[in-house]
Amino acid sequence: MKRVLSGIQPSGQLTIGNYIGAMQNFVKLQHEHQCFFMVVDLHAITVPQDPAALREQSESVAALYIAAGIDPNKAAIFLQSHVPQHAELGWLLTTLTYMGELERMTQFKDKSEGKDSVGAGLFVYPSLMAADILLYNADLVPVGDDQKQHLELTRDLAGRFNSRYGNYFTVPQPFIPEVGARIMSLDDASKKMSKSNANAGSNIFLLDDPAVIRKKISRAKTDSEAIVKYDPIHKPEISNLMSIYSHTANVSIADIEAKYEGQMYGPFKKDLAEQVAAFIEPLQTRYHEVRRSGEVYDVLQKGAQQAQEVAELTLNEVKRHMGFVLPRR
Ligand code: TYM
Repeated sequence: MKRVLSGIQPSGQLTIGNYIGAMQNFVKLQHEHQCFFMVVDLHAITVPQDPAALREQSESVAALYIAAGIDPNKAAIFLQSHVPQHAELGWLLTTLTYMGELERMTQFKDKSEGKDSVGAGLFVYPSLMAADILLYNADLVPVGDDQKQHLELTRDLAGRFNSRYGNYFTVPQPFIPEVGARIMSLDDASKKMSKSNANAGSNIFLLDDPAVIRKKISRAKTDSEAIVKYDPIHKPEISNLMSIYSHTANVSIADIEAKYEGQMYGPFKKDLAEQVAAFIEPLQTRYHEVRRSGEVYDVLQKGAQQAQEVAELTLNEVKRHMGFVLPRR
């Protein structure tokens, strides 16, 4: 069975972009792959986090995984900080990573832009991400488009390790949706929808009240052409809304175009708001059940044990390849 690994940062409330770009594929891939899905809390602290908020968001992301349909009996769901091998392999891979490679990372450039002091953790973030993936020798990594560059670096680091120390790591492949790989802000289609965008009108949060979602969609920016046509270059706003429609209602872009042919944006937006609300309501009901039941703690404990079994073996092998003296058992 092929291995799949991915993770989401508990650095804010999850958006529908996180669902469409990543989580939806987690759910799909779990049936035929050995899956590891993490809450990457060690990555979240590369920018300042309030401790109480970090704790709450970490539990919330884990509960959302379950609510979205990841079956803890099929996939290991765990917190990155519960498996210490991530930090250790992260360090080993940092020593293989070049400064120039890290300087070229667009996520680093975006997050550090205009800041007086930038944490070193933010700079070496991609080496830790590579460790997350290589620790499980993952074949596939379901992510949104914005993680492509980090995946490329991971592939380079795997190749560099293999040629320097002997063939050991699997070189992973990104698994990116064709439509919806980059869901854009509702108020500015030149920017990615992001959990850290302070302007709440730009995002649809998975835990937003359905009434709020309807309002956000009705206010979402569109062009003045009033033709429901998928054309991300010339009509980025409506194309973005169509991607959201396609994923939440499970219909193709061509079917959406056919359905709204000759109509203005009003009916499309109204239906979209209903589709998104209808998709999100059961997810939220399940989420609240999961939180109330406390099952998330058992799931995280079991997930960490499963992950650690693999992680420990890999780390020992990596150290052996690199020339470390291994402790006696
Ligand atoms: P993060 O937490 O920013 O986002 C989690 C996942 O959601 C995707 N995503 C989007 N997809 C489509 N449209 C959007 N607007 C959108 N916003 C976010 C992201 O591409 C991602 O797949 N570095 C990663 C976390 C990470 C990771 C890993 C991922 C750490 N270690 C190992 C995979 C494997 C991140 O910041 O994701």
